[in-house]
Amino acid sequence: MSTAYICEHKKLNHINKIAMIIGVPKEIKNNENRVALTPGGAQELIKRGHIVYVQSTAGEGSGFTDNEYVESGAQILHSIEATYEIAEMIIKVKEPIEEEYKLIKEDQLVFTYFHFASHEPLTSAMIKSKSICLAYETVEQADRSLPLLVPMSEVAGRMSVQEGAKYLEKPLKGRGILLGGVPGVRPAKVLILGGGVVGTNAAKMAAGMGADVTIMDLSIPRLRYLDDIMPANVNTFMSSEYNIRELIASHDLIIGAVLIPGAKAPNLITRDMLKEMQPGTVLVDVAVDQGGCIETCKPTTHQDPTFIIDDILHYCVANMPGAVPYTSTLALTNATLPYAIQLANKGWKKACNDSKELRLGLNIIKGDVVYEAVAEAFDLPYVPVDQHM
Ligand SMILES: NC(=O)c1ccc[n+]([C@@H]2O[C@H](COP(=O)([O-])OP(=O)(O)OC[C@H]3O[C@@H](n4cnc5c(N)ncnc54)[C@H](O)[C@@H]3O)[C@@H](O)[C@H]2O)c1
Repeated sequence: MSTAYICEHKKLNHINKIAMIIGVPKEIKNNENRVALTPGGAQELIKRGHIVYVQSTAGEGSGFTDNEYVESGAQILHSIEATYEIAEMIIKVKEPIEEEYKLIKEDQLVFTYFHFASHEPLTSAMIKSKSICLAYETVEQADRSLPLLVPMSEVAGRMSVQEGAKYLEKPLKGRGILLGGVPGVRPAKVLILGGGVVGTNAAKMAAGMGADVTIMDLSIPRLRYLDDIMPANVNTFMSSEYNIRELIASHDLIIGAVLIPGAKAPNLITRDMLKEMQPGTVLVDVAVDQGGCIETCKPTTHQDPTFIIDDILHYCVANMPGAVPYTSTLALTNATLPYAIQLANKGWKKACNDSKELRLGLNIIKGDVVYEAVAEAFDLPYVPVDQHM
């Protein structure tokens, strides 16, 4: 496509928002293999009249070739600079890292995970860029659920059982117990702390593999719901220190899946409790990204995922979905694509005016922090989003 065509297209867009030029850069954060748009997603945008540029090899880590993008109608660009330069809207996965700050332009819409409140340099850089930052993690539905965070919790919850089952094997330093047992030999006992998205997905997997599962939560309505929908090999139990101490000695795999929104996870398993567990018990603390709910957990990576304290194996990988980029990319893009289509079809302002969910995703607009928690985190002036709409 010629530069003249693109200039003409941009001019037309300026007059009447007919189409969007979308850029999909390759993720450059260490060990990030996901991509923000699949070839199928690109096709959906292109058939609505938008122009999609994908940086060469952006989809490689998730199993999508440049050729598949070309077949879906996208254009391939060979540098990250060219991808940012041409795009009115950037769709990404991870928050921009330092090398990307200078590539983001005034008035450019950037739709990605940002997690601003935990990253001051990123917040300052995006304020300086005068771009429009729409954060996946704060897009919120009327029931207060976070539709662009849920898919990653589903992946991590299911993976926690897969990883736990693997590390229970003796050569990997676990107790040497098969999750589902065999006829005449009892299955493993799995204890899940927290019955939200991660916990429910973990329970489904563990139950399906035949384990004897207990799921704990503080919310009685949640326990009641889980009791209704879970199979017979899943029991529910109220979460308390007393009840946790009662169960840890007899359980083989313990999964930490609690969340107190906006706060550090509480330490439900303290260091002294490790002595009460059987040697080779496996602890998977999925909540490690919020500080962990097991006192002895510290974040680990996929290169070196586990460590042992007092004969108890700890698995505390902070970005579990990164190990299954194919599934994670599809799960994420299934959730992000409908929003990306609204943004491309209507432009960010109309899309956010029409959809309260998307509007809540706006964090920074042209140098103003419009998300209160981000302004509070760094003592920055807060500008209500309405002033930009
Ligand atoms: N490590 C990873 O790669 C990864 C990936 C996705 C999510 N996570 C993390 O997993 C955690 C859980 O996420 P989620 O989406 O399931 O959250 P969620 O809000 O759906 O569920 C959390 C549950 O914890 C329960 N809870 C709170 N305090 C409790 C307590 N003291 N005892 C028992 N239950 C308690 C809540 O009632 C809720 O049901 C979060 O910290 C999230 O950031 C980590």
